Amino acid sequence: MLLRVPDVFTPAQATACREALERADWVDGRVTAGHQSARAKHNLQLAEDHPLARQWGETVLQALSRNGLFHAAALPLKIFPPLFNCYREGGNFGVHVDNAIRDVRGTSHRVRTDLSATLFLSEPDSYDGGELVVEDNYGTHAVKLPAGHLVLYPASSLHRVNTVTRGARMASFFWIQSLVRDDGERTLLFDLDQAITRLGHDTPNHPALVSLTGTYHNLLRRWADA
Ligand code: NI
Repeated sequence: MLLRVPDVFTPAQATACREALERADWVDGRVTAGHQSARAKHNLQLAEDHPLARQWGETVLQALSRNGLFHAAALPLKIFPPLFNCYREGGNFGVHVDNAIRDVRGTSHRVRTDLSATLFLSEPDSYDGGELVVEDNYGTHAVKLPAGHLVLYPASSLHRVNTVTRGARMASFFWIQSLVRDDGERTLLFDLDQAITRLGHDTPNHPALVSLTGTYHNLLRRWADA
């Protein structure tokens, strides 16, 4: 499933984050790349232990904790501490697949990367190129969202970032280990959840709501590895 999650950051938060990052010292993005993807990666990144990465990463996590659509779609068990990157003119990331397991630096924690997420921080008209291009069973999707909006996509997909030819593209990116490992099962749960929500909105006293909600939880109980 490829899903757009709007308004994770308010425009003011996105601007404040971008302004803070503009003054930061960046390092070569290959510091967190695996063997194969290091050859394809041409961008800048904030060091994982950079105070701004910690501070704004925490702000991203707080914003996600309030976001119902994100929770319904990702069913997060663990979220990798958000990282930040910047593609300036000529920057790009060739086609690659994300590492399956990520060690959380300075801890004994690991995250299995079921889902990848990109939170766009730059307004689309402030740079040319820089689309995130994701290949899934249904084809190739180019994603370029307003500042503050997020895209969720299966970490198992082949993806790339097109060359930025003008301006700078800043984003936060991270991975999610989901309660439900399988993308197809997670997508079914999300579709059911959204249908129940719509039904509850339109006909709040419909007796089928209880049994549908029960079915949702029984499927989640069957598939989740909490
Ligand atoms: Ni990637």
